[in-house]
Formats: sequence, C-alpha cells, structure tokens
Amino acid sequence: MNKIKFAIEIGGAYTKIFVKDEGFALCEPTLISAEPTPQGYKIIGFGKHAKDMQGKTNDSVEVFSPITNGQIVNYEYLKQLLIYYFDQLNFKRKYDSCLVLINCGLSKKDRENFMTIMHEIGFKEVVLVPTIICSAIGSGKNISSTKTNLVVNIGGANTDIAVINMNSIVKGATLGIGGKAVDVAIANTIAYNHGIVVGVSICEKIKKEVGSLYKNDGLNMEITGVDIDSKIPRSYIISSQDLLEVLVPFFDEIIRTIDVTITSMPPEISTDIINNGVLFTGGMSKINGLESYLRKNFKYPFKIVEDAENVSILGAGKLLDDKDLLKKILENT
Ligand SMILES: Nc1ncnc2c1ncn2[C@@H]1O[C@H](COP(=O)(O)OP(=O)(O)O)[C@@H](O)[C@H]1O
Ligand SMILES: [Mg+2]
Repeated sequence: MNKIKFAIEIGGAYTKIFVKDEGFALCEPTLISAEPTPQGYKIIGFGKHAKDMQGKTNDSVEVFSPITNGQIVNYEYLKQLLIYYFDQLNFKRKYDSCLVLINCGLSKKDRENFMTIMHEIGFKEVVLVPTIICSAIGSGKNISSTKTNLVVNIGGANTDIAVINMNSIVKGATLGIGGKAVDVAIANTIAYNHGIVVGVSICEKIKKEVGSLYKNDGLNMEITGVDIDSKIPRSYIISSQDLLEVLVPFFDEIIRTIDVTITSMPPEISTDIINNGVLFTGGMSKINGLESYLRKNFKYPFKIVEDAENVSILGAGKLLDDKDLLKKILENT
C-alpha cells in the first residue's frame, strides 16, 4: 500500500475532505438540487449552493442527498457530487489514493459501489475504513490497546455506537436518527403547536441557536413562517422550552441504546468501558446542555469531545500519516 493522499467522509449532513500534508480541506453539505426536464432530472446545484436553495425555489426543484443512512440511493448523483467536491480542491483531477469513511454496517454491494465510484472519478487506490474508528482516533484514543472504548457519533443522518478495541469494532449499532431528524421534528412541532410552517434549514439554525437540554434555559429567537390557516407570514418567538419535547426523546433513545450495548457486553469489556468513559462525538453532541443532561440521566462516566463534528475526518487525517495503524485496521475489518 502506498501513502494515501486524501480522506473523505460523506456524512449524512456534511461531506469533509482531508488532504495529507495540507489538512482539513473541505466541508460542504451532502446535498444536490435537481429539477425535472423532459429528459429527466437535471442537476442544478451541489453542496452549499444546493443547501442555499432549500425551500427557496418553486416546488419542482428538489434538494436531496444521494446517500441516506450511509447507503447510496442514487449512484450517478453521488458520483457527480463527489466530482464537484474534489474539483473544489484544485488537484486538476490528478488523484492517486483515497481513504473513504463508511458506516460500519454497510452492505457488501454498497462497499463495492463506493469503490467503483471512486475508481470512476479517477482514484487508483481506494481504501474503506469505518467512520467510527476514525472518530475514536480523532478523539485521541489508542484503538490498538486491549482496553475497550465505547464511542458514540451523533451525526446528521444517523447515530453510530461502537465498542472498539485492538483495532477493530467488537460490537456496533447504528440508529437511523441524527441531526436532520431533529430538524424535521422541530418543523413538525412548530406547525403542530403554533400553526406556523417553517423550512428545515431554518429549523437547523433554531436547533443550533436555541436548542438546549437545560430545563430552564432562557434562549429564544424570533422566527417567521407561513400561518397554516391564513397562508400569510407570521412571526413567533421560539424558546428552548419549545424544543425540549423534541430533544429529550431524541437523546433518551440514544442513551437507552448505549445502556443496552454496555449491559450486553461481558464484564471484562463493560468494566473497561466504564473505566474509560463513553466518548460522545458528532455535530449533534454540541447541543447546549448535553453535558448537564448526561450527568443527570446517564449512568456511566462520559466525555463530550471538543470539535465534535470534525473528529472523524481529523482522525482520518492522522491515519494518513500512520501507515502501520491503517494496515492493522484493514486487517481487522
Ligand atoms: N451547535 C450545534 N448544536 C446542535 N446541533 C449541531 C450543532 N452543530 C452542528 N450540529 C448538527 O450536527 C449535524 C452534523 O454533524 P456531523 O457530525 O457533521 O454529521 P455528518 O458527519 O453525519 O454529516 C447536523 O445535523 C447539524 O445541524
Ligand atoms: Mg460524521
């Protein structure tokens, strides 16, 4: 295996690229926009541009991700999107090798499809590595140790929970819930409780700015949407309290799944996990008040890592510099 130059994480919300010796090189939404034409759908926007179109165009324009829950839903669109991302980097399509971060539960067929797309784009060597392993590395964990770690990644489309030791995943679970499901639930809550329709990209902003797990957080923000009955614009001041009914069940489901994962482990492993503390990564771990919520509602020691949404791509960046570790991981996956 030669030295690998690029690493890409095609996340449920954002795609990130790391270039060896250069660093974190790109972060753009994993989105495409397309409109119907007599010849079929035509792509009109990629990444940031597609996201900016969300909810702002006529009904015929669709903004979507060619990947859902880590699985490829549209091969050709994904390929076009990846070409767009790599073109941003100015390597003039001279690509040698790339590490692709994937969900641990990905089917054989999808793994093959990822390889084929990357080859079609021009990469000669393509290596697949589980994203959650990179999250552990990026968080500073020694994944080669016999001591076991439990790593959680709460991302855009799903939440990965994995028990890791000796360069491999002992047990992994993927929940089909992430930040995007929260955005949609916020839109539904506002419509149901206040009779206003608000777009999901505004709901993402609301979640980041006002969303909180503190029971008495006083954050608030004025939002404007369309009144369901009168169809005219109406404003409302949304507060953290409005969002608790979305956020609490979301995090409780994750906590329950972690509990079940830990209790299903043999005592040698669960003792290690408890000693090491559960690691929380992924963009949704940045929600206000998570630390305090976990202290009250989570039985085990834990740590929310800094720069939570970027640890996996930064971990992949470290792997580009550590051929031996990469080799060991590949032997175990
Ligand atoms: N400060 C924040 N508070 C709440 N959610 C956040 C915050 N920052 C990012 N997010 C959410 O995290 C998700 C993206 O996390 P990320 O780990 O990049 O996901 P992925 O790798 O699956 O694309 C998005 O749903 C985004 O809205
Ligand atoms: Mg991610």
